[in-house]
Amino acid sequence: MMIRYTSGVLIVLCVLMSSVVDSRLMVDNLIRWPSDHPSIFESDDDSVGTRWAVLIAGSSGYWNYRHQADVCHAYQVLKKGGLKDENIIVFMYDDIAYDEENPRPGVLINSPYGHDVYAGVPKDYTGEDVTVNNFFAAILGNKDAITGGSGKVVNSGPNDHIFIFYSDHGGAGVLGMPTYPYLYADELIETLKEKHASGTYKSLVVYIEACESGSIFEGILPEGLNIYATTASNAVESSWGTYCPGQDPNVPPEYDTCLGDLYSVSWIEDSERHNLHTESLKQQYEVVKTKTAEKPFYGSHVMQYGDKELTQDMLYLYMGTNPNNENYTYVDDNSLHPTSSNAVNQRDADLIHFWNKFRKASEGSQRKINAQKQFMEVMSHRVHLDDSIKLIGKLLFGIEKGLGVLQTVRPTGQPLVDDWNCLKTLVRTFEKHCGSLSQYGMKHMRSIANICNAGITTNQMAEASAQACPSFPSGPWSSLHRGFSA
Ligand SMILES: *[C@@H]1O[C@H](CO)[C@@H](O)[C@H](O)[C@H]1NC(C)=O
Repeated sequence: MMIRYTSGVLIVLCVLMSSVVDSRLMVDNLIRWPSDHPSIFESDDDSVGTRWAVLIAGSSGYWNYRHQADVCHAYQVLKKGGLKDENIIVFMYDDIAYDEENPRPGVLINSPYGHDVYAGVPKDYTGEDVTVNNFFAAILGNKDAITGGSGKVVNSGPNDHIFIFYSDHGGAGVLGMPTYPYLYADELIETLKEKHASGTYKSLVVYIEACESGSIFEGILPEGLNIYATTASNAVESSWGTYCPGQDPNVPPEYDTCLGDLYSVSWIEDSERHNLHTESLKQQYEVVKTKTAEKPFYGSHVMQYGDKELTQDMLYLYMGTNPNNENYTYVDDNSLHPTSSNAVNQRDADLIHFWNKFRKASEGSQRKINAQKQFMEVMSHRVHLDDSIKLIGKLLFGIEKGLGVLQTVRPTGQPLVDDWNCLKTLVRTFEKHCGSLSQYGMKHMRSIANICNAGITTNQMAEASAQACPSFPSGPWSSLHRGFSA
């Protein structure tokens, strides 16, 4: 699908591929003094409560540069918007800025001519502290449940507004994490319901960039929680990396990796440029949808879920606004000019990195040999995963019906799977025999969900997996030493 619009390099790839607490208290105190002049809080925007943000990059590895760059850039926009560091919680593995591959050590950019977005970003949860458990505990304000990190949590009150932004790879019903297990949709929804039940926010907005990210909310996010979510893609399609090597606008030649993601940079650049008093969530949704939309050869459908009446809220309620943008209203400049003329499927962006590394390394060098080895390992694990899932389908449902069952997509509005515990159990069963699904393997999550929906037991799955994968795959890309992804 990428063949027609990208460089010859990618044609080769495709051929190879088989497939604010303080201010709130202050307001509260003021309210207790009825003699105070009412204009104090009419004119004071802090009467909206504190703005909180949780920003999380779900990946690690230099080839995933763009997800941490998105998150750092989002931090800069919120910070300029007036949010305080004590109210912005950042999760990122933090292995990019000083990676030996980074041509500008200590600097991260999120667009070809972009400024550094790394300086000043709070390192609340980095490295092995970027866990699902810490992410949920931070949202819930449950400091006791945190392990490691800064201990910063969303200590919000009933008038507060919360913004959550996630960027990474995903699959049906799942979002990647730089640690195991991954983040499953049912657990995220349970966490949001629990947060709602605790009465500690007025409204909450979630933006998610990932492949098949619509599946995180589709059929499972109820209305009435005062939660509004948008996702980079619908439940069945890829989301897209952008500002990639060899694209227009040109990425500086020293970068062998994509610098951003299409949906993420679309909202971040829109928020960065405008007076957010004048732009509603709905308006931003429309802008981002247009910029992320289906082009002839790439693009995805930006989706919205939850309480759509919140879309009348101004972005200012969640993101603040940069005082320097006061004269840039949404109406004056609706920023529909394209972000980038090209994009790369999330799932293939790592290949671009390894391929560019290989291509540029000097002939016969150790670097070239290593890059080739990395590339081949990634490719062979991909082929192994694709083949073993297909074979399992045939073993379980027969040669003729197997692929059909695996590829079934439920009608819009229905959840991916009826029994989420079954999904997680079968993922572990598969991984025990066939190696880690890893980043790429998340694309097979829907097939495993369909196996659950068809009523296959754990034992049946174990037998089929053992038959399909008689020997456990070797190599770092297939290893399970870091744990199951479910
Ligand atoms: C916005 O425009 C007004 C009127 O021209 C001007 O006084 C003000 O300084 C401008 N604000 C900014 C941040 O440039």
